[in-house]
Amino acid sequence: MSALFELRDVRAAHERITVLHGVSLAVAAGEVVALLGPNGAGKTTTLHVAAGVHPAESGRLLLGGRDLTGARPRDLARAGVCLIPEGRGVFPNLSVRDNLLMMTFTGRTRAEIEEVAFARFPVLARRAGQTAGTLSGGEQQMLALARGLATDPAVLLLDELSMGLAPLVVGRLYEQVAEIARQGVAVLVVEQFAAAVLGIADRAAVLVRGRIERQGHPDDGLRAELSALYLGSPT
Ligand SMILES: Nc1ncnc2c1ncn2[C@@H]1O[C@H](COP(=O)(O)OP(=O)(O)O)[C@@H](O)[C@H]1O
Ligand SMILES: [Mg+2]
Repeated sequence: MSALFELRDVRAAHERITVLHGVSLAVAAGEVVALLGPNGAGKTTTLHVAAGVHPAESGRLLLGGRDLTGARPRDLARAGVCLIPEGRGVFPNLSVRDNLLMMTFTGRTRAEIEEVAFARFPVLARRAGQTAGTLSGGEQQMLALARGLATDPAVLLLDELSMGLAPLVVGRLYEQVAEIARQGVAVLVVEQFAAAVLGIADRAAVLVRGRIERQGHPDDGLRAELSALYLGSPT
């Protein structure tokens, strides 16, 4: 499969300390790639570079054969790159309906956005008038995903979707993510703990201290490497 979205040899720093030391990742349309690694490895920074919200020191960002290195977040979003940030990208004081209404800036009508959102996540229809902050954690992630889908993304970047959620809920969310990929979206998922996402990932990469240590099919070797990595860690 040829890549729709690619980070090529990306280096990035925070306050002049380099935290990504040449990260290369490629995601094809319809594919789910998992980027795994311990806390502080540089996973979020990788997604921020991918979405244009954090600058790369060097390296390239390619989308559909176009070089978008250095492009502004707005331009990347317009080109179809959608980041669902860590910690749920919803407005807690607004209702579900108003969270979706905000996405009409994309040019889609409220009715179109709600139709797509409620078809994929029927529970959101039942909660339409409810304040987003009072939804369960899983429902808030569904709303965040629904907001993302309203942009009709070509590339979906997900940062620790599972954080704070029960395994059953995480499993259901990832089933939806797999379904979104099947419709042709290139999905790059970041997780600290792997179990749920490995079930749907076509490929996985292990990031340690800003370097990709291993990349391949989520097979036993990769699982063993991950458990070795986390063994003895306080979490
Ligand atoms: N805003 C920031 N200012 C300074 N250092 C940061 C900032 N954000 C992240 N870092 C550092 O960059 C490294 C990678 O962080 P991050 O990308 O958030 O890792 P992960 O998402 O894998 O936990 C860590 O050492 C972290 O402390
Ligand atoms: Mg992170």
